[in-house]
Amino acid sequence: MSAPRLSSSAPQDAADDMSSVGVRVMTARQQLRSSGLPSEMADLDARLIAQHVLGWTTERFLTDVHTVAPIGFGAVYERLIRRRIAREPLAYIVGHREFWGLEIAVTPAVLVPRPETELLVEAALEFLANDAGPVTIVDACTGSGCIAIALASERPAATIVATDISGEALTVAHANAARHGVADRIKLVRADLLSGIGGPVDAIVGNPPYVPFCDRAVLASEVAHHEPGLAIFGGEDGMSVIERFVPQAPALIREGGMLMFEFGRGLDEPVEELIRQTPGLTLVELRRDLQGIPRVAIARRPAGGG
Ligand SMILES: C[S@@+](CC[C@H](N)C(=O)[O-])C[C@H]1O[C@@H](n2cnc3c(N)ncnc32)[C@H](O)[C@@H]1O
Repeated sequence: MSAPRLSSSAPQDAADDMSSVGVRVMTARQQLRSSGLPSEMADLDARLIAQHVLGWTTERFLTDVHTVAPIGFGAVYERLIRRRIAREPLAYIVGHREFWGLEIAVTPAVLVPRPETELLVEAALEFLANDAGPVTIVDACTGSGCIAIALASERPAATIVATDISGEALTVAHANAARHGVADRIKLVRADLLSGIGGPVDAIVGNPPYVPFCDRAVLASEVAHHEPGLAIFGGEDGMSVIERFVPQAPALIREGGMLMFEFGRGLDEPVEELIRQTPGLTLVELRRDLQGIPRVAIARRPAGGG
């Protein structure tokens, strides 16, 4: 996640001249725009990649944009801009993405955390609000660990078991948990969804893969060609992982405890149907995102039932 090292003693290469940082960023913007990136995104990414290479904050960038670029900057910057032109997500290039106000490290082994997933964190915090004491939570399909880490940061008395089927993803999640000082309360387990996890727990949360295979052709190149398919696709109809996940949950959740998970656009009907048909679960709500799209399923294991 740290900025690339610029060698001050390296001989100047072809990419080094006396141009200012600003001129180089303007050139990169143009290259990104010409490659088809929307202009606002091109401008932002050109600046953020420059800041990453220089190790500069936005304030420093605004102050020092007219200074001559340091030796070594040009070559490193151009290499990273070429990666963005090839549609590698910005988060993989700079090595991190903000989620719930936390800087989460990402590699191509994990999904880049999405803003809409904060809705799931919000719902989980709301339904755990009455549990002032210790709570136990399972975060299935943890990826970078962003959901588990956000919940652990907000609930100092929470202990969380976070699962993923990908060992590489768990390595990233571990580094993130350590970085945010919550590794002692997040147990990372390599598992297929909830298999082998013991209960009872207060809540299960998760963001399982849910994009239908047939949507592959319409996905942004950043997603289709760079993010891990294991994190994206939920079978032919998007439901294949969710259909295995939901029925496993009631056996682990204490009476009165919650199941909350994210799902994709257009899956609200099958998700609702699945929850209604799962013994030991009662649908509370399908929560909509800011665009009005149903996004998060909230279900309860009723007291005395299931
Ligand atoms: C959509 S990503 C979510 C990552 C992270 N929780 C987030 O919200 O950004 C789904 C994650 O589920 C993992 N995964 C896929 N199939 C799984 C399975 N059967 N059991 C556990 N994890 C699985 C993938 O490796 C990936 O990390």
